[in-house]
Amino acid sequence: MSKTAVNKILKPLLLGTFIFGCFVTLFFMYFKPSTSWPYGPIESTIYTEQVKIPFFSRSNKSMTILLVWLWPYGQTYDLTACSSIFNIEGCFITADKNLYNISDGILFHHQSIADDLSNLPTLQRPSFQKWIWMNFESPSHSTNLPSIAKLFNLTLNYRQDADIKVPYGSIIPSETKEDFVLPKKDKLICWIVSNWKKDHVRAKYYNKLHKHIEVHTYGRAFGKRIPDKDLNSIMASCKFYLAFENSIHKDYITEKLYNPLSVGTVPVVLGPPRQNYEKFIQGDAFIHVDDFNSPKDLAEYLMLLDENEEMYLGYFKWRRLFKVKTVHFWAEHTCLACDYLSRHKEYRAINDLDKWYRG
Ligand SMILES: *[C@@H]1O[C@H](CO)[C@@H](O)[C@H](O)[C@H]1NC(C)=O
Ligand SMILES: *[C@@H]1O[C@H](CO)[C@@H](O)[C@H](O)[C@H]1NC(C)=O
Ligand SMILES: *[C@@H]1O[C@H](CO)[C@@H](O)[C@H](O)[C@H]1NC(C)=O
Repeated sequence: MSKTAVNKILKPLLLGTFIFGCFVTLFFMYFKPSTSWPYGPIESTIYTEQVKIPFFSRSNKSMTILLVWLWPYGQTYDLTACSSIFNIEGCFITADKNLYNISDGILFHHQSIADDLSNLPTLQRPSFQKWIWMNFESPSHSTNLPSIAKLFNLTLNYRQDADIKVPYGSIIPSETKEDFVLPKKDKLICWIVSNWKKDHVRAKYYNKLHKHIEVHTYGRAFGKRIPDKDLNSIMASCKFYLAFENSIHKDYITEKLYNPLSVGTVPVVLGPPRQNYEKFIQGDAFIHVDDFNSPKDLAEYLMLLDENEEMYLGYFKWRRLFKVKTVHFWAEHTCLACDYLSRHKEYRAINDLDKWYRG
C-alpha cells in the first residue's frame, strides 16, 4: 500500500474507531445496564438527602420493614431467615437504625431497655410506625419499668393475651408415620438447673422431694455443668424430668416442659395449674405436682410407674400422632412480629403495659 493510500483510507478508519470507542465508553459510564444492579433488591440503595432508603421500599409497598432496635441481651442473630426458614414472605428485617423513618415497626427487647430509657429512639415516631414490646421472662424476672407503660403499640410475649403470642413450644401433627421409639433409660428422675434460689417454690419442692426419691441433678446450681450438646441425651436417659419453672405465672410454660417432651421423657411440672398446661399439651403427656397431696405422694407414684411399664408408656400415647415444635429464639419471634405487622395495619396502643404484665 502506498503512503497516500494509508493517509486516505487507514487514517479516517482509525479516527472513526477511536471516536466510536469513546462514545461506547461514555455510554456505559452514564447508563449502567440493569444487570450490574447489585444482586437482589435488598442490597440496592438510592441515596436521597443523607438517608439511605432501600430500593424495594419505594418500588414495592407490600414489603414490611421491621427494625430490631435492641439486640436481645446483646446477642445478634440471623435477620434473613423469615422466608427461608419460617416461610414468612414479604418481610425485610434490619438492625440499621438509619432506616428508622421508613420502618413499619420497631422491635424492643424489654430486658435490654435502659432504666432511664436512654437507649430508645429520640426522633419523632412516624404516624404509621408501631413499636413492639418483646419479653420472654416472667413478670417476676422482668425489670419494673413503669415509664414504658404508654410507649408501645403491640406486645410480643408467651402469654395468650399478647397481641403477638409466641409460646415457647407447641404440639403439632407429626408428618412421619413411623412409631415413636422410647429412648433407653438408665435413670429415674433428672433435673438440670442453673439458677438456684432457696426461696423459689421449685427449690422448696425439690428439697422435700429428694428425701423420698433419688433425683439426678445437673447444672450450675449443683456444681455439675453440662455442655449444651449433652443436654438432650442426658434428659432422654431419664424416665422423668423435673420441669419446674422459676416462677409461677399464667401461660409461663417454657422450654423446661418442651425439651423433655420432645426427647421422650415424661415432664413432672411445677408452674401454673394443670388446666393452664392442658391448653397447650395433652393432659396425659405430663405429671403435675398439684396432682398429689405432698412431694412424698408424688415420689410414691413415680416409683409405681417405674415398676409398671404399661402405665409409664401411657404417657407417650400422644406421640402416635403428634410431635413437639420449639420456637427458634430470636429469629422466629422477629419474623412473626413482622408477619403480624404486615397483616394488621389498624391503630393500636398499649396504655398500661406494666399493669397488664404484672396484673
Ligand atoms: C413485592 O413484594 C411481595 C412480597 O415479598 C412479592 O410477592 C412481590 O412479588 C413483590 N413485587 C415486586 C414487583 O417486586
Ligand atoms: C426522620 O423524620 C424526622 C421528622 O419526622 C426528621 O426530623 C428526621 O430528620 C428524619 N430523620 C432522618 C434520618 O431522615
Ligand atoms: C402507637 O402508640 C403510640 C403511643 O400510644 C401512639 O401515639 C401511636 O399513634 C400509635 N401508632 C399506631 C400506628 O397505632
